Amino acid sequence: MFDVVVKNAALAYDERIIFKDLNLTLAGGEWTCLLGGSGVGKTSLLRLIAGLSTGKGLETSGSVLCQDGFSLKGRIAWMAQQDLLLPWFSVIENITLGERLRNSFFSRRKVSAQELDRARHILEQVGLSDKATELPQNLSGGQRQRAALARTLMENRPLVLMDEPFGALDAVTRLNLQDLACDLLANRTVLLITHDPLEALRLGHHIYHLQGEPATLTEAIMPPDSPPRSLENKELMSLQGELLERLRNEEERP
Ligand SMILES: Nc1ncnc2c1ncn2[C@@H]1O[C@H](COP(=O)(O)OP(=O)(O)O)[C@@H](O)[C@H]1O
Ligand SMILES: [Mg+2]
Repeated sequence: MFDVVVKNAALAYDERIIFKDLNLTLAGGEWTCLLGGSGVGKTSLLRLIAGLSTGKGLETSGSVLCQDGFSLKGRIAWMAQQDLLLPWFSVIENITLGERLRNSFFSRRKVSAQELDRARHILEQVGLSDKATELPQNLSGGQRQRAALARTLMENRPLVLMDEPFGALDAVTRLNLQDLACDLLANRTVLLITHDPLEALRLGHHIYHLQGEPATLTEAIMPPDSPPRSLENKELMSLQGELLERLRNEEERP
């Protein structure tokens, strides 16, 4: 699995510099977690990596390169805090949407039997087999995010960018989804944005903290053992305390 290297990235909105000279390597096949307070520029960085940074007043520079020499185009899946499920489609229609949109105009409504089998298998993996034909409105918050995870898996891309995907869930549902995502996205290159230090510490091989204006990245923290780390891991708890303290100091600054 290839590394993704972000080099000298800079981003400004209407001349307000959010970050500059930012360098970050996403280790191939591992999870990198990015922590940071609200408004520091986490989503902006994710969008820049995904090549989605466009708009009036926005200026960007720098490069995002794959170390295997190929372009990132078509190799990224995205998962956000809002599940982005379309309310008029069933769960299985939602998770095969990408496939249908990529089909030619005339066969847009059809998904091959093979892809449908794959979709059913993925729904089984995320524990939603019995919800395949339900509309999103009939699912709980946790089930909706599992459907969003299924859609991400369906896309089967090597790089997965996640913007606070479990941020709106209650604590227990969140832990369960962390375990599930860790299991099902093992061996992909993942960049997970979160404001929850415990989430970063449970899931990340490398954890960075984005802070300040312009924002900079702190040195990587690499917790011991492999993810998903147990809540009984004492070192995890002390690192959590440290990170929470850091985030709190940041919030208190004027
Ligand atoms: N389209 C935009 N135009 C102007 N400013 C923006 C725009 N999007 C975000 N910002 C500002 O840039 C900063 C970083 O935003 P964002 O990347 O969304 O932060 P985070 O995800 O860390 O909460 C914020 O202060 C936000 O107000
Ligand atoms: Mg954000």
